[in-house]
Amino acid sequence: MSKALNGYRILDFTHVQSGPTCTQLLAWFGADVIKVERAGEGDATRGQLRDIPEADSLYFTMLNHNKRSITVNTKHPKGKQVLEALIKQCDVLVENFAPGALDRMGFTWERIHELNPRMVVASVKGFGPGKYEACKVYENVAQCAGGAASTTGFDDGPPLVTGAQIGDSGTGLHLALGIMAALLQRQTSGKGQKVLAPMQDAVLNLCRVKLRDQQRLERTGELQEYPQYPDIEFGEAVPRAGNASGGGQPGSILKCKGWQKDPNAYIYFITQAAVWPAICKVIDEEGWITDPHFSTPKARLPHLKMIFARIEEWTKTKTKFEAMDILNAYDIPCGPILSMKEIAEDEALRASGTVVEVDHPVRGKYLTVGNPIKMSDSPTVVTRSPLLGEHTDEVLSQLGYSAADIQALRAEQVI
Ligand code: COA
Repeated sequence: MSKALNGYRILDFTHVQSGPTCTQLLAWFGADVIKVERAGEGDATRGQLRDIPEADSLYFTMLNHNKRSITVNTKHPKGKQVLEALIKQCDVLVENFAPGALDRMGFTWERIHELNPRMVVASVKGFGPGKYEACKVYENVAQCAGGAASTTGFDDGPPLVTGAQIGDSGTGLHLALGIMAALLQRQTSGKGQKVLAPMQDAVLNLCRVKLRDQQRLERTGELQEYPQYPDIEFGEAVPRAGNASGGGQPGSILKCKGWQKDPNAYIYFITQAAVWPAICKVIDEEGWITDPHFSTPKARLPHLKMIFARIEEWTKTKTKFEAMDILNAYDIPCGPILSMKEIAEDEALRASGTVVEVDHPVRGKYLTVGNPIKMSDSPTVVTRSPLLGEHTDEVLSQLGYSAADIQALRAEQVI
């Protein structure tokens, strides 16, 4: 079956996580993604956090499926020629080097645009223009600078980073969307353009509700759905809200049967207004349906801690899956706290192709996360990540290099 991006060629000059997340998605949508790596060592993540000696790490393999790999020393004059040939033949160049690295190599936007005016040049950087624009940035720096860390965690603890890689993978997703829009615009303009996704900005975009709350706090002096209310005074900035729901429907993480031994025996429980009578029935507090202290969402706000404590008395008598079954029958929004072990074994995620087993010639079988975006006419088949330089000869001959040329480049350690 054809794929959405068949016919598009991506010059994948990315490394680590943010850029590779983006280009892996483009590959899953059917683009021909050619990953350009440093001769000899390749993407640093190939060797990071290794669990099997000599095998590409899971860090690398899980971010570079469905790509081809070519090694080129792009600082060598002959390597630059290879890169120029690729620029002329590709639709998009994606990179996430430290600020200025591409320019230092001689590939400024102007030079790339001159070589191929239709090329889209897409970059991830830590920060946009401003005092930090020259900084190198990794995931947690972006989480801190984008507002996630100051708003995550509990009121009496330090700022907290989240395990979700919103700085790296989150920015990669933003970049992929920008690339798609630029390719669509090219259909009418005939020209490529620069696409920039700064990690700070992408994290802030994902923390949009916290900037909403900052302004609500400044206007009203309190955030009534936050756990601080009504006991603790609010300061100038949005405080950490623990596990309170980010929306207008109060929620919390509650203990379930077995919580004493199982760190994930918990459920997320949302007291959605529409199902309040059902919640009261389930926990055997039917008086709360009409009691003026509990009958409306506004009346409940000062009592949320007490309400969740009472609901927890009930959830503690059920496993998280038993509670799910009972609550779902009443359309009460809730979700089990799933461990990675449970997710890896989840039958539905396996059946949908979101958790996939892949075979690799060096490491053997491993699990990965497949394409979370499902398209009816562009199905994703996940294939293993390339070995370092596995497609160098193939790609160079497609660019017009003869076998003798390739041998000479290899002898000079350009590839
Ligand atoms: N041939 C020759 N040189 C190559 C090459 C190739 N194929 N590929 C890369 N290089 C060079 C670059 O030109 C650069 O050289 P220079 O510093 O002399 O100009 C060098 O390799 C290293 O690049 P750099 O990006 O500085 O790597 P780093 O390991 O020091 O930094 C990051 C890593 C992630 C901190 C940095 O790339 C960065 O801040 N990127 C932007 C933000 C980002 O994406 N962060 C998240 C990563 S998940």
